Amino acid sequence: MPETLTITDNRTGKTYEVPIMKGTYPKYGSAIPAIALRDIKVDDEDFGLLTYDPGFTNTASCKSSVSFIDGERGILRYRGYPIQDLAANSTFLEVAYLILHGELPSESQLSEWTNNITNHTMLHENMKKFLGGFHHDAHPMGMVISTVAALGTFYPGARDIYNESDRREQIYRLTAKMPTIAAYAFRHSAGLHFAYPDNNLSYAGNFLNMLFKMTELNYKPDPVLEHALDVLFILHADHEQNCSASAMRAVGSSLPDPYVSVASAAAALWGPLHGGANEAVLRMLREIGSVDKIPAYIDRAKSGEFRLMGFGHRVYKNYDPRAKILREMAPQVFEITGKNPLIDIAKELERIALEDEYFVSRKLYPNVDFYSGIIYEAMGFPVAMFPVLFAIPRTVGWLAQWQEQLDDPDFRIARPRQVYTGEDERSYKPMNSR
Ligand code: SDX
Repeated sequence: MPETLTITDNRTGKTYEVPIMKGTYPKYGSAIPAIALRDIKVDDEDFGLLTYDPGFTNTASCKSSVSFIDGERGILRYRGYPIQDLAANSTFLEVAYLILHGELPSESQLSEWTNNITNHTMLHENMKKFLGGFHHDAHPMGMVISTVAALGTFYPGARDIYNESDRREQIYRLTAKMPTIAAYAFRHSAGLHFAYPDNNLSYAGNFLNMLFKMTELNYKPDPVLEHALDVLFILHADHEQNCSASAMRAVGSSLPDPYVSVASAAAALWGPLHGGANEAVLRMLREIGSVDKIPAYIDRAKSGEFRLMGFGHRVYKNYDPRAKILREMAPQVFEITGKNPLIDIAKELERIALEDEYFVSRKLYPNVDFYSGIIYEAMGFPVAMFPVLFAIPRTVGWLAQWQEQLDDPDFRIARPRQVYTGEDERSYKPMNSR
């Protein structure tokens, strides 16, 4: 059976054979090269056909082997490994190696990788002046985005992105310094001195150290919270061609340094429809305030008056597997921090929504942002830090997507077309005739 489409243009009666591209799963994500449609013309003057797809709801922008999501079955895998297995058995740094290199590391590879990350956690002292210049109530995500972009100015080699060793150094630096920048932004907002990295701690443990260390000589992270944060980082590390990964690829396609590309991806992540949803979920749950007020909010969501934040997903039409893991992990965190009462509102909201025709018919399930914020708040993070906590691990996914694009033989600068619907040519009108 030929793997082609035969297209008949009814305007001319002509037929066209278009090849079908296949991915790992022929039943999932086969595609036709859009450029093949340009041959479909009514005459030689005709430009040919484009595809029209606002929001890219049905457009594959690239080939990728980093993550795989089966939205109907609620499956997420990084380089083929189910997210449940990685959350239960791995660490964020090991998962970061997997996502960036394509294979789980050997013991010596993991040790070398961990040393490289650990020894790149410090920031140039001048960055403290840069961060210190923000207003006391600046949003930490705004501070992180601008600081990441500025960080590239300290590393002139960063622009030489086809130099393998330079590229590797920048990947070490960005993976290692995101927690430091995030912690410094948090400390600036809290009016506290910056706490330096402690290279004797794990990736998550050191992050907690830089966030919460006070006058003690050596900060000792609570092992339960350190593990919970590590799992949260694993769950947020990559997720196919989401809005921020697409931003990373689009900006990265003009070949700037990776710092400004990561900053642009973080900017896309900040929006309340994407990674900013975890902050919006907390504000929504606080506004609901009690279980008895839920039905009124469900009605408002169904009337289109507002979005039930933390619900729905472009790809998942089943329960987001990450949300399921977080829902089950929350009680372990509450054992240490005390229960966050918002969890009861969240669970009741989920129960009611999943029985309601409006949500069921639209396959709207809780996504990763629905429970993450409740855990973050219980751990002592202010709501404004939630998108920052998403950006830290997702930096690894953005870098993996970025380097995959650079190494792709099909790589070209991102420059979409449009369907022009504006005015035909017209002459300039002097003021007195307008
Ligand atoms: C993330 O892409 C990723 O992978 C992202 C992410 C990642 O790891 O990178 O998974 C992280 O961003 C998770 C999503 C976080 N965002 C939110 O929780 C915000 C609330 N959710 C939405 O706004 C929405 O569901 C999106 C943005 C997530 C998806 O939007 P789509 O795919 O464009 O869907 P849509 O807006 O076209 O909605 C389809 C229908 C509409 O109803 P009708 O017009 O058909 O009547 O569902 C309705 C929407 O009104 N709908 C909702 C809803 N989400 C969709 N109605 C109420 N509440 C919601 N949350």
